[in-house]
Amino acid sequence: MRIRITHGRIEEIASEIMAIGIFEEEKRLKGKVEAIDKKLRGMISTAIKQGDFKGKFRQILVLPTQRLIPAKRVLLIGLGKKKKFKLEKLRQAAGTVARYIKAKALSNISTIIYGKDVLGAPFDEMAQAMTEGILLSLYELTRFKTEKDKEKKEIKEISLCEEEKRNIPKIKEGLKRGQILSEATNLTRELVAYPSNEATPTFLANKAKEIAKKHHLKCKVMDRAEIKRLGMNAFLGVAKGSVEPPKFIILEYKPKKKNPDTIVLVGKGVTFDSGGITLKPGLNMHEMKEDMGGAAAVLGAMKAAAELGLSQRIVGLVPATENLPSGSALKPGDILKSYSGKTIEVLNTDAEGRLILCDALAYAARYKPKAIIDIATLTGACEIALGNFASGIMGNDEKLMARLKEAGNITGERIWELPLWEEYDELIKSDIADIKNVGGRAGGAITAAAFLKKFVGKGPWVHIDIAGTVWTKKDKPYISKGPTGIGVRLFIEFLRKWGK
Ligand code: BES
Ligand code: ZN
Ligand code: ZN
Repeated sequence: MRIRITHGRIEEIASEIMAIGIFEEEKRLKGKVEAIDKKLRGMISTAIKQGDFKGKFRQILVLPTQRLIPAKRVLLIGLGKKKKFKLEKLRQAAGTVARYIKAKALSNISTIIYGKDVLGAPFDEMAQAMTEGILLSLYELTRFKTEKDKEKKEIKEISLCEEEKRNIPKIKEGLKRGQILSEATNLTRELVAYPSNEATPTFLANKAKEIAKKHHLKCKVMDRAEIKRLGMNAFLGVAKGSVEPPKFIILEYKPKKKNPDTIVLVGKGVTFDSGGITLKPGLNMHEMKEDMGGAAAVLGAMKAAAELGLSQRIVGLVPATENLPSGSALKPGDILKSYSGKTIEVLNTDAEGRLILCDALAYAARYKPKAIIDIATLTGACEIALGNFASGIMGNDEKLMARLKEAGNITGERIWELPLWEEYDELIKSDIADIKNVGGRAGGAITAAAFLKKFVGKGPWVHIDIAGTVWTKKDKPYISKGPTGIGVRLFIEFLRKWGK
């Protein structure tokens, strides 16, 4: 599928279907839509008058154009209330239309940026949002199906039309960025969807090497012996129950600019979380292939950062392992000496994410970063607290958290802060070691973050818990059910605005 920018009037362009956006409560059609309505001899205004089309958000009405214009059909997409229209709504509307047209097996569309006058955002941002809505909504994983759907047709081309020549360069820039981000997000989704018998720690390491080679990143993968030599015993403790070798993946992107700020991204890479000796119940255990969603987000973000040529030095750290029970597995009551030197009493082997992350977070300090951000499917408690519409964040730096929240509002990956007051530290004090790896049921997402806090030192740090947002069980306007690819666009939006 190709998205093409066309300089010209949409009503003069031939296509199978032409898609235009209309707001709710629009008494009189204005501007472009009015001009098209005139050409269509009042077809659109009649549909509105008769109540066939109300402009409710994501409502669709298709009318045949009777050869009054070169496009064979016109699709009206409801944009909802003007006041509520934001970039995320544009993304959702674009995704809704793309999916509808794919389902109808139409091969080409002509369209414009919906509601651009009302939105009034820079043209690159609007084009980016629209591109993301389209490309993310059309993503489909067919790799594991051997019986292909022969009836299925693909959209071949989408022409995004713009009349004003001076807007074209920005639209092109936004299209390119939207393509890079969608591709990276779809890679992340694919990695999360892959079952754990394919997506092993070694597989993730090979993916990282592949990305590094293609996009000129530095990549280092440490194996069990090297991880041991460094003294990352908390990470190793989790890994020792599995025959799959653990990998500590390091990706580094360096901009051309001299003395750039360094940002470290850390992603939880548990390729399957059975709980270990503290075994999880069987019901829905298969979902725990998604426990490397943080790692996948970091890999996707590193790829996009390199392609976009961002101006920070970005280091991606991914501790990758399975969490399995076996004769060599970690046991409740075991005590581990972490990379930082702190000792950890393991009371629940299912709280393994914090064990692998604490070593990676302590390791991050060697890069002298301006910020450390970790992303992890860390706690079921976070999903219970926030549901599936927001990721949780906790950290030690208000400004950093505010920047991430702002980025999330723009990309539609909303985040919500939970408190990380020092009172919570009490809950993870151990009788026998420096710290214990669980703090009880109450405030489970917070005590997990309180645990991580002990390993990050003084610098700015934020933890993002994506346990509730890494996967969606229902279709969303531009993300079908399955892995969401959360984190990639969030990180890039955050990084692009860094220093501004
Ligand atoms: N990987 C899970 C958390 C999780 C739950 C991710 C649901 C995605 C969806 C994590 O390792 C875990 O098992 N956490 C425990 C912590 C508890 C033992 C303190 C949990 O949330 O129950
Ligand atoms: Zn677990
Ligand atoms: Zn886990």
